Amino acid sequence: MNRFDGAPSRFGNHKVLLTGAASGIGRATAIRLAAEGAHVFGVDRAEEGLKETAAAVAGPGTFTFRTTDVTDEPAVIETVREAAAELGGIDVLANVAGMHRTTPIATLSVEDLQELFSVNLVGTALFCREALPHLPDRSGVIVNVSSLSATQGNPFMSAYAASKAAVLGFSVTLAAEVSGRGIRVVTVSPGSTDTPLVRSVAFPEGADAGYYARLLAPLGVATPEQIAGTIAYAASADAGYLTGADIRVDGGAHM
Ligand SMILES: NC(=O)c1ccc[n+]([C@@H]2O[C@H](COP(=O)([O-])OP(=O)(O)OC[C@H]3O[C@@H](n4cnc5c(N)ncnc54)[C@H](O)[C@@H]3O)[C@@H](O)[C@H]2O)c1
Repeated sequence: MNRFDGAPSRFGNHKVLLTGAASGIGRATAIRLAAEGAHVFGVDRAEEGLKETAAAVAGPGTFTFRTTDVTDEPAVIETVREAAAELGGIDVLANVAGMHRTTPIATLSVEDLQELFSVNLVGTALFCREALPHLPDRSGVIVNVSSLSATQGNPFMSAYAASKAAVLGFSVTLAAEVSGRGIRVVTVSPGSTDTPLVRSVAFPEGADAGYYARLLAPLGVATPEQIAGTIAYAASADAGYLTGADIRVDGGAHM
């Protein structure tokens, strides 16, 4: 039994490479896709979290994993090669790994910008580059996780927002570039979701809490499972006519 009993089974024997699988939205995605029959190869830099995800995956699909930092180019090359060999190919790449940090403009550093872009954009781009030769023509799918922050002003988050906006720009262009092969590239942009990432956000002294209160979604804070459901949809044949698109799953926060 698992939390997705009753969900349709759209991924029977599909091979999925998933980053960020040790926590939050990535873990929920691993559980969801395996519940729909997928064989998931999870990647993260947090080994303990990967083990916890492995214990939480109930099948009928499977979950294996490798500890990798998505910013380490040689490690990414080796990881994708290993995933493709172990799974026997890759049908779906889901880039969920990401990091967040508040960066008030007065103290914004080059290191902040470089680290956020390195994880959120460079890591995503490297996995796309390495996985694409393995993805099958006409059915391969890439789902990249961006953020509502890419298009909605959230004070003190400019560096994070810019790195996530870069994911949008990267993905729509990649979608056009690989469209001749019939490979789809979709972004999913969550609003505020209850994960360790959000819980760790530290707002600067004097931040206007009222501003954030006005941005609250009518549907409240998302569960990781709600975002995983959207990622699963984007990766499935149900979304077969969707590419170069961004799915903003924000509980109405943009309204
Ligand atoms: N939680 C939210 O409100 C929210 C909103 C919009 C977008 N997102 C995005 O959703 C994605 C998942 O975030 P989450 O909320 O589940 O957070 P999370 O912190 O629970 O999970 C993020 C995972 O990424 C991994 N990771 C970070 N840097 C890594 C690196 N260099 N190499 C390998 N793994 C790395 C972490 O170890 C962690 O397991 C992120 O891309 C995040 O930016 C989250």
